Amino acid sequence: MVAFTARAHTNIALLKYWGKVDQQLIIPTTTSISLTLDEFYTETTVEFDPALPNDQITLDQQPLKEKDRHKISIFLNLIRTQAQINTFARVQSVNHVPTAAGLASSASAFAALAGAGSAAAGLNLSQADLSRLARQGSGSASRSIFGGFVQWDRGTDHQTSVAHPLQENVDWPIQLLTVIVSDQPKKINSRGGMQNAMQNSPFYQNWVERSNGLVKPMQTAINQHDLATLGTIAEQNALEMHAQNMVANPPFFYLTDISWQIINLVQDLRQSGLQVYATMDAGPNVKIISHPDDTPTIKSALFKILPEISIQVATPGPGLTVWQNGAAHA
Ligand code: ADP
Ligand code: DP6
Ligand code: CO
Repeated sequence: MVAFTARAHTNIALLKYWGKVDQQLIIPTTTSISLTLDEFYTETTVEFDPALPNDQITLDQQPLKEKDRHKISIFLNLIRTQAQINTFARVQSVNHVPTAAGLASSASAFAALAGAGSAAAGLNLSQADLSRLARQGSGSASRSIFGGFVQWDRGTDHQTSVAHPLQENVDWPIQLLTVIVSDQPKKINSRGGMQNAMQNSPFYQNWVERSNGLVKPMQTAINQHDLATLGTIAEQNALEMHAQNMVANPPFFYLTDISWQIINLVQDLRQSGLQVYATMDAGPNVKIISHPDDTPTIKSALFKILPEISIQVATPGPGLTVWQNGAAHA
């Protein structure tokens, strides 16, 4: 059968997804809103081949660990069922983003796999159906089907829990400085972390209510190109997500001393008049939402306190692209 390749970009949640109502279908407790990033992405090639005795999967040219391989095979089963085929697949994936470090590799990974896998199986899915499919691999992947600002409606079932673009072409100045505190895999993956917070934080219900209440204000800020309101809401929502982890019993922390130094610096810079806001996912890395004109000032302030730190500048990125191997693509 024919091989297809897909490229999907990661996304950073401005309103976080942090808990599931349904573990298997991945129906979240909250509606989330994200920005797809140009800088970080996954490229995945899939080919179904009747000669294969099982699924063969490599990530960055290395065979995947058994647990990760199993996760991909289960996901491929969804595609096989829908396409009514039972052949195994050869999957080759390359991450242009650190894997499992809190930089949303699972989002770009499952969006790319949904795109390449469904095309290779002969399915011709709509973007909404690709979002539903990707969601079942990793919740955040539902949003990486689309470029720019994206909303994932929590919904109540497989059909209604789906992402859609809020603003695909972002033609106003907003950027994300990713400060890489660590590119190593985290100890507690997102799946385990959100499960722990949901079950063991005494304030979890409060998080759900507050987070869902921020959807409309965030949409308005995006519509009005209002960086200050967008950043303020995003920072607040990120800290509230991390607070859930910190007050869970047992507590756990994704943020390290260095993360807090950066968060404090962001607050200092804001006091001095800059529009800079911090957001953090399930990992120690801090992403700074800001105006592109302020990059030199922010970078030099960061290097003053952390001379060795690595910083990557990201701007709004595109949605999923899929092409047949050997064919031209954009
Ligand atoms: P992240 O913050 O990077 O999204 P997660 O804990 O959500 O971290 O997910 C990391 C997991 O996603 C990895 O352990 C692996 O199972 C899976 N993953 C990441 N990239 C790929 C890829 N390109 N192909 C297959 N699986 C991947
Ligand atoms: C903190 O989508 O990685 O980045 O659905 O279990 O695979 P699974 O989790 P994942 O969780 C992402 C959590 C987050 C916030 C977000 O991206 O909305
Ligand atoms: Co993830």
